[in-house]
Amino acid sequence: MSRPKITVVGAGNVGATAAQVLAARDYADIVLVDIKEGLPQGKALDMNQMGAVRGYEPNVTGSNDYADTAGSAVVVVTAGLPRAPGMSRDDLVATNEKIVREVTERAVEQSPDAFLVVVSNPLDAMCHVAKNASGFPRERVFGMAGILDTARFSTFIAWETGSSVKDVTAMVLGGHGDQMVPVVSATTVGGVPLRKLVPADRIDAMVERTAKGGGELVQLLGTSAWYAPGAAVAQMVDAVLLDEKRILPCTAYLQGEYGIDGLYLGVPVKLGAGGIEQIVELDLDEAERAALDRSAAAVREVVGVLST
Ligand code: NAI
Ligand code: 2OP
Repeated sequence: MSRPKITVVGAGNVGATAAQVLAARDYADIVLVDIKEGLPQGKALDMNQMGAVRGYEPNVTGSNDYADTAGSAVVVVTAGLPRAPGMSRDDLVATNEKIVREVTERAVEQSPDAFLVVVSNPLDAMCHVAKNASGFPRERVFGMAGILDTARFSTFIAWETGSSVKDVTAMVLGGHGDQMVPVVSATTVGGVPLRKLVPADRIDAMVERTAKGGGELVQLLGTSAWYAPGAAVAQMVDAVLLDEKRILPCTAYLQGEYGIDGLYLGVPVKLGAGGIEQIVELDLDEAERAALDRSAAAVREVVGVLST
């Protein structure tokens, strides 16, 4: 059986990390595409040679030509500018809208049946751009943010409680901005509700640090993060191509779910061979519900700035 093809557009920090994690999974061929000449080719060559050390057999190709992406099962869009210190994700909107529209059009021309995983920021708005540019149904166009935001929240909880991060169950919903919504009511450590383990003021501090988690990394690195984001992308691609039916927080186009219509927002979804196979509606408490509405309003504002 031939391997599925995964295209990653943007061979920068996040795209290359996602490609590297997926190459190590050893079930797909990967094409890295970038506008810069030499960069995707060089990173692909390096990743293939890494396989010789680590004992996997990737077939990673680097290219500046979309013809090489033809027939991809999944296209990951990471092309665009990252944040610099002092910039919000929303500051990127005009530049990245143009880039995401162009790369989506070019990629879907070659791979009309692909699933699109959007990563470029501002994430929720860029999902709208990719959906409009592709004309694909909502099942096949979704964004990566919630897995990353949840990973940040889970890390802080593991540190705070002195527990293994493997035993933390958490979910961060809403837009990928400072108004994101860590769902404390559904957060447990080893099955015990977080609110029974940690005082309210410490939980509030973790919620705040999570919401500003991307900014914390930008301050430290001078650009945005890539290890956790790249791994989060790979988890979504795995769920689709291996038909895992994982329930993961992803950015999905809502049509009435959570009382929100016509907007991309982070919610739990079932990801499998059909892409988004189900949108899962959690029982949120009143404060979480209000926070989700505030987050949706913030996303609508950015979507309103899009030129299309
Ligand atoms: P980066 O600057 O390292 O890589 C971006 C790459 O896109 C560059 O290599 C650039 O040459 C390429 N590119 C630009 N225009 C292109 C075009 N028209 N066609 C093909 N390639 C093009 O940036 P990084 O750190 O990889 O971030 C990528 C995007 O992902 C940014 O917008 C960033 O804000 C976003 N991001 C989103 C996250 C999320 O949770 N959704 C997490 C981390 C980053
Ligand atoms: C992050 O959350 C900036 O979206 C990027 O790290």
